[in-house]
Amino acid sequence: MVFLAFVDDELVGHAVLTWDGAESPPMPRKIEACPNVSDVWVRPDWRRRGIGGSLLEACEHVVRDQGFPRVGLSVGVDNAAASALYRSLGYRDAGIPEYQESGRWVDANGGLVEWNETCRYMVRSLAEEPSP
Ligand SMILES: CC(C)(COP(=O)(O)OP(=O)(O)OC[C@H]1O[C@@H](n2cnc3c(N)ncnc32)[C@H](O)[C@@H]1OP(=O)(O)O)[C@@H](O)C(=O)NCCC(=O)NCCS
Repeated sequence: MVFLAFVDDELVGHAVLTWDGAESPPMPRKIEACPNVSDVWVRPDWRRRGIGGSLLEACEHVVRDQGFPRVGLSVGVDNAAASALYRSLGYRDAGIPEYQESGRWVDANGGLVEWNETCRYMVRSLAEEPSP
């Protein structure tokens, strides 16, 4: 499921929700009943205005509605901005070993960009409100 954030007619952010994410590779350990959020991104000129948080909350709303007790996501260990956002929303380290994720995407000029990141997995329990 893809979530898109618009301001007027402009696309300013997105997130992707998959139902079996935390049970599939490259996760080093299975976390059952834990849908996964990925590809959280906000256009640079629209950051720090609550859009990332709103995208996450929209994903969590759907996950909770479907009766799942938790939701999780992967974050690069060096990604301070994303880690701060996730922590502020109540995501906590799932306590599993760090792992490598890699992929590729095509940039606006048609160039192929390959990436590789050391990641940790964070989970938010949907049974409770985030603690400070
Ligand atoms: C991470 C990202 C999605 C955050 O989106 P955003 O719309 O700026 O986030 P929000 O405005 O909802 O931030 C909410 C809170 O998260 C924390 N936060 C967000 N960005 C932060 C930053 N750069 N530094 C410190 N804290 C940050 C703050 O607590 C913030 O609240 P505040 O602005 O009142 O202090 C955005 O920076 C981004 O697209 N980064 C590039 C892509 C990426 O790294 N995606 C995550 C992949 S795991």
